[in-house]
Amino acid sequence: MKIGIIGTGYVGLVTGVMLSRKGHNIKSIDLNPKIVEKLQSGICTIHESGLEKHLGDSLKESKISFSSDYKDLVCSDAIFICVGTPGNEDGSANLGYVYSAISSVIEICDESTLIIIKSTVPPTSAVKFQEFIRQKGKKHLVTSSPEFLREGSAVFDFENPDRIVCGITDEYQKEIFNKIYYYIDIKKTPIIFTDTTTSEMIKYSSNSFLSVKLSFINEMANLCEKIGANIDDLSKGMGMDKRIGSLFLNAGPGYGGSCFPKDTNALEYLASKNEIETLVLSSSIKSNLSRYSMMRDKIMSFVLSGSTITALGMAFKAGTDDVRDSPAVNIIKLLVQENFMVQCCDVAGNQNFAGLNLPNCTVHDNPYEAMHQSECIVIFTEWDEFKNLDYKKASSIVKNKLIIDLRNLLDYEKVTEAGFKIVNIGKNLNK
Ligand SMILES: NC(=O)c1ccc[n+]([C@@H]2O[C@H](COP(=O)([O-])OP(=O)(O)OC[C@H]3O[C@@H](n4cnc5c(N)ncnc54)[C@H](O)[C@@H]3O)[C@@H](O)[C@H]2O)c1
Repeated sequence: MKIGIIGTGYVGLVTGVMLSRKGHNIKSIDLNPKIVEKLQSGICTIHESGLEKHLGDSLKESKISFSSDYKDLVCSDAIFICVGTPGNEDGSANLGYVYSAISSVIEICDESTLIIIKSTVPPTSAVKFQEFIRQKGKKHLVTSSPEFLREGSAVFDFENPDRIVCGITDEYQKEIFNKIYYYIDIKKTPIIFTDTTTSEMIKYSSNSFLSVKLSFINEMANLCEKIGANIDDLSKGMGMDKRIGSLFLNAGPGYGGSCFPKDTNALEYLASKNEIETLVLSSSIKSNLSRYSMMRDKIMSFVLSGSTITALGMAFKAGTDDVRDSPAVNIIKLLVQENFMVQCCDVAGNQNFAGLNLPNCTVHDNPYEAMHQSECIVIFTEWDEFKNLDYKKASSIVKNKLIIDLRNLLDYEKVTEAGFKIVNIGKNLNK
C-alpha cells in the first residue's frame, strides 16, 4: 500500500521504517528540514536499537523516502499522523500540530485517503477532527490507531505488539486496517476494532493505569525504607501474582518522559471538564510530582548543598536518548537550585541534555571523567552500562565514596567491595 507518515519523531520514524520493512511504500513528511536531510541520507535521528539498519535497508530498496513537501503524499491510500501533542499549561493536550497536519492533508490528498491518528489525542478528538474536516467542505475520513511502543525497545515492540487498537466508523475502514496490518498474526496479537473515542480512551487509560502502578510502588518504597522492608523483594513477590503482573513495579525516582506526565494531566483535564472525579489518577499525579523534591531531599540528607556530584543517566529511561520530562532532569534542576554542581553522563542522551543548557551542569562522555572532584555518584537511569562500570576505579576517584542509587540498579556486593557506601530506594542493605 502507499502510506504517508506525518512527523518523523520517535513514533513516526519507527512506524514508517517498520511498515516499509513489511513491504508498504512509505512517504514520510517532517517540517524539520534537518531531520529530513539526515533521514534521507540514512542517519537515524533517534537512538533506538536496530532502527538505523532497517532505515538503511528500506532506503536502498526505495521503500521509504523523507521530505518536507506534503505534495509527496498525493495518491496515499492512508496517512498516519504522528506529530507531537504536548501538554498545555492547564494540563490539556495541545492539538495544534495535529490540526495543522490534517489541514495540509485535506488540501492536498484525494478524499479517498484515510486519515489515521497515531498521535496520542484526548478521547473525542477524532470526532472533532471529523467535524473540522466537514466544516472545511471536505469528505476525508478520520480513524484512530494509537501507538503503544516503548522508547528503548520500539523496534521489538513493533514486531511484538500486545495488541493493535483501531478506532473506526465503518466496515470499509476495517478492511483498510486489515490491509495495513496484514502481517500481524492475529492468533498472537489481537486487533481490537472499536469506535474512535474508545480507541483514544484505551490509550489514555493504559498510560494512566501504568503511572498509577508506578506511583503506588514508589509510595510503598517510602514505607519499606521506614519500617526496614525490602522494596525489590516486595515488587517480586507482588509481581508473581498474575492478577498484578511484574512490569511497572520497579521503584525509582518517579515516572517521567514525553508521555506519562502529559497524558495523565490531559486525562485528568478531560475528566474534570466532564465533571467526573478522578481521585486515583489525581493522587497518582500529585504523588509523582512530589517525588522529585523527595529525591532532592534524599540526596541532600547525604551531601551538603553546593557540593559537586556525579549524575549517571539523564535519559528518562535506559535505551533511549530522550530527556523530555525526564525525572533525572527534573531532579537535577532542583539540585542546581540548591547550588549543586552536577557532572552529568548518559549513554545516549548527552546531546539532548546538553541542548537544555542547564546552569551548573557539565556533560561528559566518559563516566569516570564525570566523577572527578565529585562527592558522590547518583544513579538516575537504569543503563546496563552503569551496572558494569569499574567501581574499584570509580572509588579511587569519587571523594566521599558514596553512591545514591535511585534505580536500585547496582550490585550491592560489587560496589561495597569496591569501597563504596550505597544508598538505595526502599531498602537499606547497610545494616
Ligand atoms: N515517544 C513515545 O514513546 C510515544 C509512544 C506512544 C505514543 N506517542 C505519541 O505519539 C505522538 C508523537 O510523539 P513523538 O515522541 O514521536 O514526537 P516527536 O516530538 O519525537 O516527533 C514529532 C515530529 O513531528 C514533526 N511535526 C510537527 N508538526 C508537523 C507537521 N505539521 N507536519 C510534519 N511534521 C510535523 C516534528 O518536527 C517532529 O519531528 C505524541 O502524541 C505522543 O504522545 C509517543
